[in-house]
Amino acid sequence: MKLFISEGNPHCLKVLSALGVTGVQCDVQCVNHEERVVPFLSRPAVPALLLPNGLYLFSSNAICRYLFEVNGQESSELCNQWLEWEATDLQPALLQALHMAVLQGKGSEVSKVLQSPLNFLDQSLGKGNTPYLTGEAVSVADIVLWAALYPVLSESSLALGEGKSMKAWFDRIAAMHSCQSAAQKVLQGKGLQGMKSYMQRQPAPHSNQCRETQPCNSNLAECEEGERVVSEEEMEAAAHTWNKGLNPAPLDTGRQHPILPQEGKRNILVTSALPYVNNVPHLGNIIGCVLSADVFSRYCRLRGWNLLFVCGTDEYGTATENKAREEGLTPQQICDKYHAIHSGIYKWFQIDFDFFGRTTTEKQTEIAQDIFWRLHKNGFLVDDTVEQLRCENCQRFLADRFVEGTCPHCSYPEARGDQCDKCGRLINAVELREPQCKVCRRTPVIRSSKHLFLDLPKLETQLEQWLEKSTSTGDWTANAKQITRSWLRDGLKPRCITRDLQWGTPVPHPEYKEKVFYVWFDAPIGYLSITANYTDKWETWWKNPQQVELYNFMAKDNVPFHSVVFPCSLLGAQDNYTLVNNLVATEYLNYEDTKFSKSRGVGVFGDMAKDTGIPSDVWRFYLLYVRPEGQDSAFSWADMALKNNSELLNNLGNFINRAGMFVTRFFEGCVPVMDLQQEDKRLLALVGWELQQYIKLMDKVKIRDALKHILNISRHGNQYIQVNEPWKKIKGGDIERQRAGTVTGVSVNIACLLSVMLFPYMPKVSQTIRDQLNAPQSCISTMLYGTTGTFVCSLRAGHRIGTVSPLFQKLEVDQIEALKKRFGGQQPEDEPPKKKTTAQKAASTQPATVPAPAAPAADAATVNGVDPEKAKQLTQAVAEQGDKVRALKTQKAEKAVITAEVTKLLDLKKQLAVAEGKSPEPAPQKGKKK
Ligand code: MF3
Ligand code: ZN
Repeated sequence: MKLFISEGNPHCLKVLSALGVTGVQCDVQCVNHEERVVPFLSRPAVPALLLPNGLYLFSSNAICRYLFEVNGQESSELCNQWLEWEATDLQPALLQALHMAVLQGKGSEVSKVLQSPLNFLDQSLGKGNTPYLTGEAVSVADIVLWAALYPVLSESSLALGEGKSMKAWFDRIAAMHSCQSAAQKVLQGKGLQGMKSYMQRQPAPHSNQCRETQPCNSNLAECEEGERVVSEEEMEAAAHTWNKGLNPAPLDTGRQHPILPQEGKRNILVTSALPYVNNVPHLGNIIGCVLSADVFSRYCRLRGWNLLFVCGTDEYGTATENKAREEGLTPQQICDKYHAIHSGIYKWFQIDFDFFGRTTTEKQTEIAQDIFWRLHKNGFLVDDTVEQLRCENCQRFLADRFVEGTCPHCSYPEARGDQCDKCGRLINAVELREPQCKVCRRTPVIRSSKHLFLDLPKLETQLEQWLEKSTSTGDWTANAKQITRSWLRDGLKPRCITRDLQWGTPVPHPEYKEKVFYVWFDAPIGYLSITANYTDKWETWWKNPQQVELYNFMAKDNVPFHSVVFPCSLLGAQDNYTLVNNLVATEYLNYEDTKFSKSRGVGVFGDMAKDTGIPSDVWRFYLLYVRPEGQDSAFSWADMALKNNSELLNNLGNFINRAGMFVTRFFEGCVPVMDLQQEDKRLLALVGWELQQYIKLMDKVKIRDALKHILNISRHGNQYIQVNEPWKKIKGGDIERQRAGTVTGVSVNIACLLSVMLFPYMPKVSQTIRDQLNAPQSCISTMLYGTTGTFVCSLRAGHRIGTVSPLFQKLEVDQIEALKKRFGGQQPEDEPPKKKTTAQKAASTQPATVPAPAAPAADAATVNGVDPEKAKQLTQAVAEQGDKVRALKTQKAEKAVITAEVTKLLDLKKQLAVAEGKSPEPAPQKGKKK
């Protein structure tokens, strides 16, 4: 377990005291206030407790309660009541008090704010007549309340501790050694001043009368944000901005190719990882790279930045050779065929590349060989002899995944050339007992062959200096930084960049004539060569780090190649290359409760999405809504239907449609005159605030988080219409009719803003809305142009709108059920089940990215939830996972690793129980409750 705290944060005082009092064993790490500890939270949350199962607790009271539970002290009802009181009654008052005392120098007024909660506490203690809040012994409630109050009660200048019972109670706890030392650690003996920097980062406290401003809509985060207080000044400022109207359109609209960096502009180069040509990409691949990069690119273009977005298929390597053999085609034919398939899929998903190329081109050879010779000349290549398996029958060296044999460690007979699936240990292919060529099943021989290695150790210092700068000035996702760090931690080793294959970029060195470059040396050079195929001036993008900001989008298994290996190639080649400034890596997207698997026929693949009848925009929306940003997430049919019906149809679509319909029905299609009242101004301020959040998040490539703010705006809008009832007011007298007009006019303008904000996510819907509103062309080019988020009136009174019609369709339960059946795990007839195919990706990456064992798919043939086929598969999976756990234990692997595997095992057992029709035992884990 690990506890994250920061200095000067009063909530950390609670958890540290609880830790001390309970004596629970746990590492404590001090971080700064801004550091984001819990990867999936949209704001920093300290304190946070990382549990052994990898989950987090991040509310201070929950952490304290957990620590007491671990120590065998369950909290009583009375205790829980005190904790509730602390969180809901005491905290708001305390926050205000601390704000006054620490930041405003109004210590003398603090007693007023705290009077009532302190009286209540004192009286309760007096009445109870026990030394502690819940009885004779110290409980978690005592510690939490004591720590909450410590900063104010220990400050004598505030003169608060009058209540006798409270004072005695407070001193009793203060006398405990662990509480003393926790206070010392958090406040550093500086009293209230020790909290200054923490308090400065807190939002100004709400005063009570503002609490009811906005309704609670869906989840807590939105609810908290919805409760934002809007000040008079903000409202006036919002109204003022609104009246300014649209900026004049920036000069150059429309893209002219080739796009090149421009002096004095922000020049942004976006790449998304080049997809392997030999596979049809699945939804997880699509969201991880091309779709995320597309949304960001579209956004940057809206902002008026000069941007180039390139991608293409990654075509070389064994996997392609093999696919060619399978399909009876040449590798070139395979590449042509699948390149076209990829292009078609991305076109359907509206991925707006500036150029979509491929790696098997002359430019690739030219640039890869140039980089190679530079590395050679600069002394960053070394050679070494490697022992390899060669199949004389097939006349080729066998890549690790083309050999199978008996594991030298556990004797599992079907171990792969790189790893044993049973004991999980890494294997050197030549160590396999009884190795077999997977293609012809003959026994390969050991041959030694000379290869070239990139001398990473020699480049390590340079790399670290560059990394330090890039990660601190650019936006790297947390996983990207962490994976990179773990690669560097153990020191870099030379990496082989040549292979004994035919299908690759030839190595130009005469001593290595027969060899080609290893794909992971070659493929990233594809970014450069693809750009070179787009424009001869490609070097203005790729050898121009002063002017160009480079964003690389990818899934997390690609990180080390983009943050370590490829940068080392470019650093060593020494030609002023543009290196990545922002490395944006997603986690994995699962399919329902399992993984996408081509061989098992599980999941939706890019080419099938269009056959579902669900529009491309809706697919985009849902994938972006569940984008694995900060943690793994899952695609789920039921959830997709839910989000479509609730967020798109009932929230967003409903609002936009109503706004437009009011204009059509009540005002003959012309935007009415708007006479802004306080209430309207408040809405403008709220919308403006959401817009600013959207911009802040998008600037930081928090694509999923930013989307939620679009939906917040339409929620505000719906609420506004609901409260103001323009359909009733239109039937009233003049004043009422005017009110209906203002509400309608403001709403339809919000609809127009929404269309622009939606453009990166749902380009077609965005355009449809603007068509329906007959919005001026300049909206799209000016609304987000060079602003930090101002909401202006773009459809003035008198503007005639177009024909309004519904934007979204309901997804019905039976439709979704049918789709789920269709995609959920039937074996395709033509393809026998194979073992893991994800291995090719995982095989060459180092730590922390090993995929979890795939849980077998849901099957159509389920009777009353009992599913014999699935049960059989799960029994097998449970057995294998059990072996894995035992092996890890005997190896004395790291505790965290074991715990993670045990969690998987328990989960598999649970699934098995379900498949067998038993009720799954709840996993008896503490702290898991939500
Ligand atoms: N083809 C690789 C994959 O799909 C990605 C290659 S990215 C590049 O995982 F950097 F090599 F281009
Ligand atoms: Zn063979």
